[in-house]
Amino acid sequence: MLNHFSIPKESFNGPVLITGAGGCIGAWTTAMLLKANIEVIAFDLTSNKRRPELLISHEKLSKVPWVEGDISNTETVISTIEKYKPESIIHLAALQVPFCAADPTTGAKVNVVGTVNIMEAAKQNSIKRIAHASSMAAHSFIPGSDSLKTLYGAYKMCDEQISEVYWQDHKVPSVCLRPAIVNGVGRDQGMTSKQTVAMLAAALGEPYDIPYTGYVSHLSAAEVASAFIHSVSYEGDGAFVFDIFGESININDTIKMINEIKPNANITSSGSEMPFPSKLSDIPLRKHLKKRVSDYGSINTMTMISETIEAFEVLIQSGKIDKSYLK
Ligand SMILES: NC(=O)c1ccc[n+]([C@@H]2O[C@H](COP(=O)([O-])OP(=O)(O)OC[C@H]3O[C@@H](n4cnc5c(N)ncnc54)[C@H](O)[C@@H]3O)[C@@H](O)[C@H]2O)c1
Repeated sequence: MLNHFSIPKESFNGPVLITGAGGCIGAWTTAMLLKANIEVIAFDLTSNKRRPELLISHEKLSKVPWVEGDISNTETVISTIEKYKPESIIHLAALQVPFCAADPTTGAKVNVVGTVNIMEAAKQNSIKRIAHASSMAAHSFIPGSDSLKTLYGAYKMCDEQISEVYWQDHKVPSVCLRPAIVNGVGRDQGMTSKQTVAMLAAALGEPYDIPYTGYVSHLSAAEVASAFIHSVSYEGDGAFVFDIFGESININDTIKMINEIKPNANITSSGSEMPFPSKLSDIPLRKHLKKRVSDYGSINTMTMISETIEAFEVLIQSGKIDKSYLK
């Protein structure tokens, strides 16, 4: 999927620090930047590189400085930024819905204090290119919304407001993206990861029931990575928050597309509709980035599904992924 996106390489003059580089979006963002020969500093709680290793050769990945640290530790974040002097920061480290529900205090430390640490480090080091991740789950806190309220969404809404204050008080600029449902190799955890798990099941020839129904986002991990990269390819001029949704497709049609690629696939869906928005617009983000740098590109759902299944087949054949990933 990387080949569908073009990065404004000439706009980068220094390393990009990626927090949560070991996660799904972090892995895709790292892969896309390395493909364009842009220097990456990876930061993650874990040194486990299993997701980036699904997308990046061992040789290339071993050259990336990998800082093992806790985003909620202020000293660690500030000293990392002072040491590596990144030109830009893509802040993705976070705990997702089920993990925040299971451990709210750690959730708040990682998802809220972590963002304050990034903003503070950016302020102290005059970094002017920052992008960070909120989520469509923040929509639940917009007055009038009937979406499910979660602690995760509350923390993400707080992050959006933190970044607005850092612009107002200290002129620390940022672009905050609210991804909807991200799909692709490496998407293996979180309540919305099950479309990707269904693609993996199809590649493995295993049955799988997607535990939700209705219209949902089918955003590709490569598309969201490209949007994050475009968001730090110029000096920021405010604190902006944008939805990034991709195509809204009914899960029944997702299953039909999987069947077109793998006619023997045994994928079903059941349960209720996702308690989050079933459609949001990407137009404000596209206009914003087009005006400042260029469009971040897109990939249609059929291509995304077909390339994801194909990639899973290669990874299964090489022994990098097996049935245990279905859990
Ligand atoms: N994947 C989606 O569909 C989706 C949707 C909306 C928003 N987001 C947001 O995008 C960002 C990236 O999502 P993802 O799917 O790549 O998540 P992920 O769960 O795959 O990865 C998160 C990464 O953060 C790291 N991390 C966790 N705690 C940390 C800590 N204390 N210090 C440093 N690193 C820590 C984890 O080790 C992991 O590698 C997150 O902020 C997430 O909330 C994702």
